Amino acid sequence: MQTIGVIGAGQMGAGIAQVTAQAGYHVLLSDISKERAEAGKAGIAKQLERLVTKEKIDAAARDAALALIEPVDSVAAMAPCGLVIEAATEREEIKRAIFAEVGKVLGGEAVLASNTSSIPITRLAQAAPDPARFVGVHFFNPVPVMGLIELIRGLATSDATVTLVEDYAHRLGKKVVRANDAPGFIVNRVLMPMVNEACFALGEGVATIPDIDLACQLGLNHPMGPLTLADFIGLDTCLEITRVLFEGTGDPKFRPAPLLVKYVEAGWFGRKTGRGFYDYSGEEPVPTR
Ligand code: CAA
Repeated sequence: MQTIGVIGAGQMGAGIAQVTAQAGYHVLLSDISKERAEAGKAGIAKQLERLVTKEKIDAAARDAALALIEPVDSVAAMAPCGLVIEAATEREEIKRAIFAEVGKVLGGEAVLASNTSSIPITRLAQAAPDPARFVGVHFFNPVPVMGLIELIRGLATSDATVTLVEDYAHRLGKKVVRANDAPGFIVNRVLMPMVNEACFALGEGVATIPDIDLACQLGLNHPMGPLTLADFIGLDTCLEITRVLFEGTGDPKFRPAPLLVKYVEAGWFGRKTGRGFYDYSGEEPVPTR
């Protein structure tokens, strides 16, 4: 398995394509258009350039990784891939449509993996060409920095599929944890209640945005406070995952904080829209409350 397909050239897909190429695989990168895939590759080129500037890699390694990334018109080009990783928008109908398309060309041995952060793998597998060759492979943002991959098997996922994806993850230098197909898997099951609780605390006037963040950053030794992290992940994504936890377990402890819902309704999704709990229009983020 030397050619790997990555569907989606946004933040996650580009990160996955970058680390996959740096591990020596040939990568076919697709998005809704060839232009979007090319833009994803251009972003990867910038990331690799930063690594050269910081003397983490040399120019030859940068060039080798870039040469291995091939933007393609559509998923119809993924026929040569032994593994295809879907990292498209976190909407079930979009993922299902992609699986139907890629299913038309996927080889009889090839594995299809989804980077979904919350949609049940067993349910998604129903839209895949073969549920035995379908698995969840959950990367973390920023992909080149974060050392973990969660591997989630659906009810029908075969042992051979798990082994193939585990070998790939290890070649990337990532540590693998295996999670069952339960809402939020491991990381988001633990992380999102913290993010959601920080939103409750803010809404109830417990403390200001910077103080909630500083308290958790220094008091817990976390690299970012929960509200900064929520802006980084995207408030829409945080709300979506919290709803999956709430609906998937039926447990009221996971109910979304009203303030988080309000921010999402306002279109304040965090860094990606320029405003969330902080305003990102200036040099430095400024708290919005
Ligand atoms: N891409 C590549 N590298 C990046 C990067 C990016 N987007 N952002 C930062 N880095 C690198 C920097 O280049 C730097 O590398 P060196 O140490 O080799 O110089 C290193 O990361 C540290 O960066 P900075 O010094 O600029 O800043 P920092 O110390 O504040 O670290 C951070 C930034 C790595 C993002 C850190 O704040 C962090 O780890 N935050 C928490 C991230 C996290 O929790 N991610 C998981 C989110 S949950 C998720 O992804 C799953 C989901 O389903 C929602």
